[in-house]
Amino acid sequence: MDINLIYKSRTGHTKQIAKAMSSVFNIEPIDISEPHVLGHTDLLIVGTGIYGGRPDESLLEYLNNLPANQIKGAAIFSSSISNKDQTELIVNILKSKNIEVLNKRFSCKGQFLLFGWGHPDLNDLKKAKEFAALILDSIA
Ligand SMILES: Cc1cc2nc3c(=O)[nH]c(=O)nc-3n(C[C@H](O)[C@H](O)[C@H](O)COP(=O)(O)O)c2cc1C
Repeated sequence: MDINLIYKSRTGHTKQIAKAMSSVFNIEPIDISEPHVLGHTDLLIVGTGIYGGRPDESLLEYLNNLPANQIKGAAIFSSSISNKDQTELIVNILKSKNIEVLNKRFSCKGQFLLFGWGHPDLNDLKKAKEFAALILDSIA
């Protein structure tokens, strides 16, 4: 089972979560803004910050351009001030490619100006690792 984790983070919070989760999978997270090759992937973990109520546009474009039939399953996490899951657009793209998406999604509190000061904190990163463990359980 090849697992890859991709993320887009404008101010670094999603990146912290991506790193914490990747340590559970024993992989290096992939920043989609950096040059990379997405190798063979059975399970794709996708992370984004929420901006104007939406996932990052460049991430949506990246997912739209993913070759179909390559990836079997996916799981999604996000970071936002509201701590509300607003990743439905990602789910729709993945499902349109016949990729099965884990029902449970992880949303983590981030920081924006003075709101959510200090997040993600150690407890948030612990929850991120627990979500990664849950993903592993779901494919066991
Ligand atoms: C331009 C901008 C727009 C944002 N819009 C929202 C929003 O609509 N809802 C929300 O809950 N948080 C919003 N936030 C807060 C971010 O989602 C939050 O800071 C998140 O942790 C950013 O992730 P990142 O550090 O990985 O980029 C916004 C932040 C920025 C910079």
